[in-house]
Formats: sequence, C-alpha cells, structure tokens
Amino acid sequence: MSLEFSAEATKKIEALCERYPTRQPVVLAALHLAQKEHGHLSDDALALVARTLDLPLAHVYGVATFYTMFRRAPAGTNILRVCTNISCMLRGAYDVLAAFEQKLGVKKGGTAGAFTIVEEECLAACANAPAIVCGTRYFLDVTPDQAGAILEELRREPRPEGEVV
Ligand code: FES
Repeated sequence: MSLEFSAEATKKIEALCERYPTRQPVVLAALHLAQKEHGHLSDDALALVARTLDLPLAHVYGVATFYTMFRRAPAGTNILRVCTNISCMLRGAYDVLAAFEQKLGVKKGGTAGAFTIVEEECLAACANAPAIVCGTRYFLDVTPDQAGAILEELRREPRPEGEVV
C-alpha cells in the first residue's frame, strides 16, 4: 500500500529541505514524521520517505535500522527502554530485563498489550544503574522485584514517547 504524509508533515519536510544543500540531513526528521503518522516504519513508510526526499531506499533503510528510536513494527503505548550497557549490566540489568520479560510474557523487542520491551544503550543515568526510561519517566536503581510495581504505575499513567519534530 502506498502511504502519504499529511499536509502538515509535508510542509515541515519542505521547510527543512530548504535549510540544507542536500536531502540527507532531512532523513531523520522525515523518519520521525513517518513514524508519528503511520505508527511504525513499515516498508511502505520507508518507501514514502525515500520517495519524498528522492533518496535511495537503501540509504533510508540504513538510517531507520541504525537508531533504536525508530520502530520497524507496531509498538505498545509504553516503550520500556532497559539499559544493558556496562554500568547497568554490572549492577544486574540483565536480571531486570528478564523480570520484565517474565512479567509481560514476551522477549526483548516484543510487545504485550500496551508495553514493548527494548534493550537500550546507555541512558546517561549510569550513577543510578540499572536504569530504564519510558517516555520521559526514568526509573533508577531498578531491581528485578520492582518490575511489577513499575508496570502498574505505567498502566495507571502511560508514558508515550514525545514528539521530536
Ligand atoms: S550504562 Fe546504563 S545508564 Fe549508562
């Protein structure tokens, strides 16, 4: 199915294209807009970005699959980004990740209802490792036995990721 951008998104992309001598610097913004408008970056959404910016699909695919903030599949409202980099790993991040996987019944990368689990790189909260972020809500010094309470809080007060563009 061929997707389109809304008139508002098209206007934003056109304005950004005017600011740069080439289209490559606009790819990130266009991907954010495509994800916002179409929920995730399906093959059709990547084709839309490539077509809109007149860039090779391979280039757009390369950018979209490099960054963890882009989703290639539908996700829940709450995207639990569990850091497993060195500081968090040394303080039990894999046990924390396993606790969420067990509570939700899905492995990292999977979605269960309103939750998606993502294994994340450093969240710049190393002093309080292990760290998790969901939207703008940070959970610090997390232990596996807190998984249930964190999920309950997010069920009561969902934390969708904010707009970037
Ligand atoms: S290593 Fe986890 S927040 Fe930095």
